[in-house]
Amino acid sequence: MQRVCEPELMDAAAQAAAYAAADFSAGDRAVGERVLALLAEAPAQVPPSLIDLGCGPGNISFVLAEHLPATRVLGVDGAEAMLQIARLRLAEAPQRWPGLGFARALLTPAGLQPAPAGRFGAVVSNSLLHHLHGPQVLWTAVRQLAAPGALVFVRDLRRPASPEAVLALRDRYLSDAPPVLQHDYVASLHAAFTAVEVQQQLQAAGLADQLQVAERDDRYLEVWGRLAG
Ligand SMILES: C[S@@+](CC[C@H](N)C(=O)[O-])C[C@H]1O[C@@H](n2cnc3c(N)ncnc32)[C@H](O)[C@@H]1O
Repeated sequence: MQRVCEPELMDAAAQAAAYAAADFSAGDRAVGERVLALLAEAPAQVPPSLIDLGCGPGNISFVLAEHLPATRVLGVDGAEAMLQIARLRLAEAPQRWPGLGFARALLTPAGLQPAPAGRFGAVVSNSLLHHLHGPQVLWTAVRQLAAPGALVFVRDLRRPASPEAVLALRDRYLSDAPPVLQHDYVASLHAAFTAVEVQQQLQAAGLADQLQVAERDDRYLEVWGRLAG
């Protein structure tokens, strides 16, 4: 099945609100646990700083900031509608996430703009890659932002083989969801990459010797590894 792009930014207020209201907590927790497990594999387990690319309303940023209270966690997204929700959530209990902040920034061919100060001990991204019309912007940002030895973790949907397989996943996982979410989910599966395509992206970015790609469950792919020190 050919890839069909969807709009990059989720900047419509209704779309951002529907996304934020959806319960992705099981998947968010799974991402958090996986990142923490990968961090625990290295001698210096707690990174001083972590960036969450395409953070949306902050789902993953909040989970990680909660478990890494000594880490400066920065969530970045190009959509102000998403960031408004993230900042409101943070304002409800700022003491719960002392190291957490959010900033508007866009992944571009020249890297993340505006560029945040310094480099990060971990670069994380969930469910962003399939939004990108030119996926190399993600790997350019990883190269720009990751400190030597940084953990990189990217999780995303992967593209099914056929439109029928897309609808089967929608019916399996989102049959009770509002129509706007079902619509976005179908569009996202059509826009997603295959593991083979992501491997080619890593090769083109010169990252294939440092990062691994694997399929997970019936609908995800995962990229992980540490950049050379
Ligand atoms: C499906 S949401 C994922 C949100 C969050 N990571 C999560 O796991 O819940 C994808 C997010 O990526 C953002 N995004 C897409 N393209 C972007 C770009 N080029 N630069 C910055 N953010 C982008 C969208 O605005 C959206 O908030």
